[in-house]
Amino acid sequence: MATLDADATLRAELYDRRMREMDRGDAKFYATLARDAEGPALELACGTGRIYLDALAEGCHVDGFDRSAEMLSFLRERAAERGLEPSVWQADMTDFAVAREYELAYCPFNAMQHLLTIEEQLDTLRNVYDALAPGGRFVFDVFVPSFELIAETYGEWRAEPVEFRGESREFRTRTRIADEVEQEFTVENELYDSDEKRVVTESHRLKMLPKREVELLARASPFEEWSVQGGFESDAAIEDGDPVQVWTLRKGE
Ligand SMILES: C[S@@+](CC[C@H](N)C(=O)[O-])C[C@H]1O[C@@H](n2cnc3c(N)ncnc32)[C@H](O)[C@@H]1O
Repeated sequence: MATLDADATLRAELYDRRMREMDRGDAKFYATLARDAEGPALELACGTGRIYLDALAEGCHVDGFDRSAEMLSFLRERAAERGLEPSVWQADMTDFAVAREYELAYCPFNAMQHLLTIEEQLDTLRNVYDALAPGGRFVFDVFVPSFELIAETYGEWRAEPVEFRGESREFRTRTRIADEVEQEFTVENELYDSDEKRVVTESHRLKMLPKREVELLARASPFEEWSVQGGFESDAAIEDGDPVQVWTLRKGE
């Protein structure tokens, strides 16, 4: 059992807390994919189990992993509360191997954007390809970088009240461009208690992934086919104005 870091545990708890109030429409989408798969499914970067636990509760044969022991610890707590038995482990997307073949692998909520280099991106796609059975699919979503949203909101702190450990606290978040050339940005999150004392600080560096860049990665990967839809609601081809790219990469039979 990994030793848990106290600050990372607080950050995982905050993530879990905030996610319970957010409905992106993706949990149903991925849980349905896992339910309809003709074999076991694997969730990459399953976090505190926002999607993983719903899929498990639907009776899906789903495994998961995440690189954060603290996120997984929360997932196990939530599973116990719901009487579920999770099959999850600690691993990194860029360097993982599996004990069985999967019909479906999926990676929700921009987690692929945590991969900052081409090597990390291609290593991950190769690992997923190797984990899939012939004909298997890899499904993931990343946001469409919106010039308007970036111009209007990046660099500004935004504050909102959040209920945390039974108390009302203030959550502050700011997204900033970190490197224009590499198209990287950072997301900083902070939590303040009622005395204005900062109790949680975190910062993540992520990569913008416009559609054409994902397509080039797919072309450079071992996957044989790929397609992208706009959002979780339909399987309509993506078009200008859609906020989310939902990619499916397919392994040949
Ligand atoms: C936005 S959360 C998504 C969690 C969950 N899938 C969800 O939708 O709520 C991103 C997750 O990616 C994990 N992560 C980031 N980089 C990773 C990597 N290289 N390998 C495995 N997990 C990673 C983080 O620990 C975090 O739990």
